[in-house]
Amino acid sequence: MYAIQFLQLDATHFGGGASINAEGALHSHPDQRRLVEDHQQTEHKLELYRRYAPHWASIISTARGSGINSSHLFLIDGFAGGGIHGSRDHPDGMKPGTAMLACRTAREIQRRYGNQVHVRLVDCNPDYCTTLERLTVPFRDAEGHDRVDVRVIRHEFADVALQLLAETEPHGRQFRSLWFLDPYGSAGMPYTALYPLDRVRNGPELIVNFDTAGVRRQCGNGHVASIDAEHKRHLDDLYGGEAWVAAFIGVTAEPRDALVSIYRNRFPGFPYGGAYQLRQSEGQLRHFVHLAKVQRAQTAFKEDYDASFRTGLLAGRSLNDVERSRFARRLFEAFRSEVLTLEDMHAARVAALDRGQLMTVLRRADQDGYGTWDEMARVMRWRAVRLEPPELLLNFE
Ligand SMILES: C[S@@+](CC[C@H](N)C(=O)[O-])C[C@H]1O[C@@H](n2cnc3c(N)ncnc32)[C@H](O)[C@@H]1O
Repeated sequence: MYAIQFLQLDATHFGGGASINAEGALHSHPDQRRLVEDHQQTEHKLELYRRYAPHWASIISTARGSGINSSHLFLIDGFAGGGIHGSRDHPDGMKPGTAMLACRTAREIQRRYGNQVHVRLVDCNPDYCTTLERLTVPFRDAEGHDRVDVRVIRHEFADVALQLLAETEPHGRQFRSLWFLDPYGSAGMPYTALYPLDRVRNGPELIVNFDTAGVRRQCGNGHVASIDAEHKRHLDDLYGGEAWVAAFIGVTAEPRDALVSIYRNRFPGFPYGGAYQLRQSEGQLRHFVHLAKVQRAQTAFKEDYDASFRTGLLAGRSLNDVERSRFARRLFEAFRSEVLTLEDMHAARVAALDRGQLMTVLRRADQDGYGTWDEMARVMRWRAVRLEPPELLLNFE
């Protein structure tokens, strides 16, 4: 590995510098306090990144003779979080978040191909940065190919995006970088920060976890004239102007997908990629917007998306009693007050169920007081409020 002086950010951007409580404990991230198995969307996101980050790095590392310089690669996590998610199923009680997955990927790729994979973890919250600093010590302190150049950057992503991009291009040599952008809503990811990546030939590739439902809400569900100034400013920031308005022209129904595809098309410098729906949970609708410069990346991402979607899929097997009730409740939380056909609900992918399983769950949802299931018409009328079954209404000692 040869030495290139990477990262010219000011030293004040690094590390945590945040509070640790009186007992010396770190402040936990919300992801740590909830169980990932109860959040299908988060589980799906982690599964996709767990698969695609090493896949991406392997493709580039083995693309020798193609003119690609794979001696240095970059994994950039722009909204890195606390590095850990709580887990019911994992024997450790927790699973790695995207930040730790990036570090693991870097080490694995360095061991396998002998190149250097740099990891940049950006988060604006000093507490989470302190946690990330601690979690990444073993990667920074290791020897040989196990040693990972990982930096925690305590800053707003938009303020450091350009500097990170410059870092992937030292002395005019463009190295490949995979950017994962996973903000809570869609704030903090203005178009002006991403547009420079669009302009670069062949260097960066992006995965944006796009908050489709959140953006739709900002749009006042289509009543453009009634959108308040703050939401409008936010949408203009995200789309880099009023491109989002086009989603509502000539449309009578809510433009579920138009807001995503218009966003995707704002990046013509990424001719490949696409928008892929994440599994839904708690009524949230999100898409991975994948922005790639080459066809190969599009194919690889699609493969990993399909595989990640199938993970945990219960297709073909019969659900046990608890699972039926658990899925019934999950559907109720996603669809309350709506009247939906079986096909609508299957397409919404709130749960990874095949149609037969979905029918079983809908019958259970009816029994559990969440709605009325019409088996002949295959239509469910979801209640706004659950009709509590009697056993819950009785008071036992
Ligand atoms: C959804 S969490 C990230 C979770 C992480 N990707 C994972 O799955 O393990 C979003 C994180 O972005 C951080 N954040 C919010 N606004 C930010 C901004 N403008 N710049 C950088 N980080 C930001 C929050 O502190 C939070 O930790």
